[in-house]
Amino acid sequence: MLITGGAGFIGSNFVYYTLKNRPEYQITVIDKLTYAGNPDNLTPVLDKINFVTGDICDQELMDKLVADNDVVVHFAAESHNDNSLQNPRPFLDSNIIGTYTILEAIRKHGKRLHHISTDEVYGDLELDDPNRFTENTPYNPSSPYSSTKAGSDLLVRAWVRSFGVQATISNCSNNYGPYQHVEKFIPRQITEILEGRKPRLYGAGENVRDWIHTEDHSSAVLAILEKGRLGETYLIGADGEKNNKEVIELILKDMNKDPSDYEHVTDRPGHDMRYAIDSTKLRNELGWMPKFTNFEEGLKSTIDWYTNNEAWWKPQKEATEAKYQKAGH
Ligand code: NAD
Ligand code: TYD
Repeated sequence: MLITGGAGFIGSNFVYYTLKNRPEYQITVIDKLTYAGNPDNLTPVLDKINFVTGDICDQELMDKLVADNDVVVHFAAESHNDNSLQNPRPFLDSNIIGTYTILEAIRKHGKRLHHISTDEVYGDLELDDPNRFTENTPYNPSSPYSSTKAGSDLLVRAWVRSFGVQATISNCSNNYGPYQHVEKFIPRQITEILEGRKPRLYGAGENVRDWIHTEDHSSAVLAILEKGRLGETYLIGADGEKNNKEVIELILKDMNKDPSDYEHVTDRPGHDMRYAIDSTKLRNELGWMPKFTNFEEGLKSTIDWYTNNEAWWKPQKEATEAKYQKAGH
């Protein structure tokens, strides 16, 4: 199994999950080790996997790696909306050209691909919309990040239809858990509090995200890889809708602070209001269920992890906050 982006937040979780549950698989990770890729994430298992530092846009390298493996699970991407608003170019390269490069190698060698994507390709919902995203919701992405992920999904669909490649796609909601980069919402707030500063809420904070623990994302991906129907898309979600204000208040409360002790900062341009996933297809067809159904408990253990692993996040913190300061958040 070739895992792209395996040194990142979700990719590394999937490496651990697969090693634990399918010890017979031989795993190769390819990762460019961008600012978001941390080789330390895989240190405990480096003797069990083959780790290659490289770019998914490198055609020769991808051709060789795909030829040497049976399946490719494709996580590698530029993944942060705020970065995409400051500098979209790397998103076009990694998310679109990178996926294209993998698809061409998959086509050439007749291998199986699972493409990891996001619910953000569907745009956003109104707060009072009774509907949630399904596999049939039209694509309507808002940001350079989500539009390049949408582009990558459409390439996969086209390669399935026109070239008959064996691929599946999953679109998952917002992940949380240990090893998430401090640029993302939940780790940023936890580490701001740990550094003695206040959490920062974009705009009024009414935006809703549908939270899922990263290990539930991993279990869903393995289920789709093993039991999913080729050419199909599966939405992954754990019924975890919460607005940003509620999440910040929970974090403050769990860290024994006053729940109102946060700051409102400049809103994100084009900020999507609400994401919500209906994962009926995945649950009914493949029998998948999330394990981490208590968000507050999952959040507490995530807070504990950041509290106990300062050495992991500290080196990234200053540069991340400098970026945010420049962007006015
Ligand atoms: P991340 O930013 O933590 O990790 C991305 C990894 O990909 C990093 O290790 C980085 O070094 C690597 N990478 C980036 N460009 C590369 C390139 N050109 N070649 C090789 N490696 C490259 O991201 P994440 O949060 O773990 O997200 C992983 C995937 O899941 C992405 O495809 C993302 O769109 C998708 N996703 C994320 C979420 C979420 O909440 N984080 C939700 C749904 C889907
Ligand atoms: P983020 O983790 O960037 O994920 P996404 O943009 O993919 O949903 O942000 C989650 C939500 O939190 C989003 O509505 C933006 C908001 N947000 C804040 O309110 N404050 C922050 O400091 C950050 C980073 C995000």
